[in-house]
Amino acid sequence: MASYNTLLISLADSILTITINRPDKLNALNKTVIEELGTAIDEVYNNKEIKSAIITGSGAKAFVAGADISEFGSMDGKALAQKGQDAVFSKIENSPKPIVAAVNGFALGGGCELAMACHFRLCSENAKFGQPEVNLGLVPGYGGTQRLTQLIGKGKAMELMLTGNMIDASEAKQLGLVNYVTTADSLLDKTVALLQVINTKAPIAIKHVIALTNLAAYGAADGLQKEVQAFGELFDTKDAKEGAAAFLEKRKANFTGE
Ligand code: COA
Repeated sequence: MASYNTLLISLADSILTITINRPDKLNALNKTVIEELGTAIDEVYNNKEIKSAIITGSGAKAFVAGADISEFGSMDGKALAQKGQDAVFSKIENSPKPIVAAVNGFALGGGCELAMACHFRLCSENAKFGQPEVNLGLVPGYGGTQRLTQLIGKGKAMELMLTGNMIDASEAKQLGLVNYVTTADSLLDKTVALLQVINTKAPIAIKHVIALTNLAAYGAADGLQKEVQAFGELFDTKDAKEGAAAFLEKRKANFTGE
């Protein structure tokens, strides 16, 4: 596994935990974090020992407090947004293996966008979410306008992005931005428990669920047809035969990803 300067990485029980580790800067996404996140996500795609991943932040205060504002002066804005989306945010969203955000504090700007690029989110009670880019004369650049609207609907997304206001964990839950709110201490355990369930399922089916759900989120016209195609492909896999046999034999399925 690659070595990192701004990430802590651990692999246990086929789950890769990626911890963004700049707590003194509230885990802000500087150039190095973006590059290293890209490498870590590649590892999730390519390493057969990894079935799923968690992204979280170091320290008790922040998940990620946004893109690193101190680097803005030296950067080309369009390249910053495009490279970030390609190397990290879209790559997370399109990952064939589930990547879940465990939001342990502030998730602002690029931090909220990072959480939203993940397949779903849990947060601790002290979490705060927001897209404060308008305060800087900007718009979200890592997919926030699109994914926030998908996740919480147009009216509320518009309000949050136009005011820059933050919402707390319970409002995030009520809006469907996060699936669960936990104590700070139990956040990772709860996230791992959900991934342990998912990790017992057939990997090719998991991959297709992610891809098909993403098609729906972006309003693809051929989503239903793509579902028929995927169902057809899966039907002939060893894992689908194993799943049906295990049900009929009243035993646990043993999926191999074939
Ligand atoms: N980029 C760069 N540095 C950041 C940062 C960011 N997005 N967010 C926080 N930091 C740094 C602060 O500059 C500070 O560094 P310093 O100790 O060297 O001065 C450190 O992290 C701690 O932040 P601080 O602002 O002192 O903490 P706070 O508890 O008073 O406030 C926030 C917390 C999250 C409300 C505040 O840090 C904030 O508003 N951050 C920017 C959020 C934002 O606009 N993100 C979108 C960027 S597009």
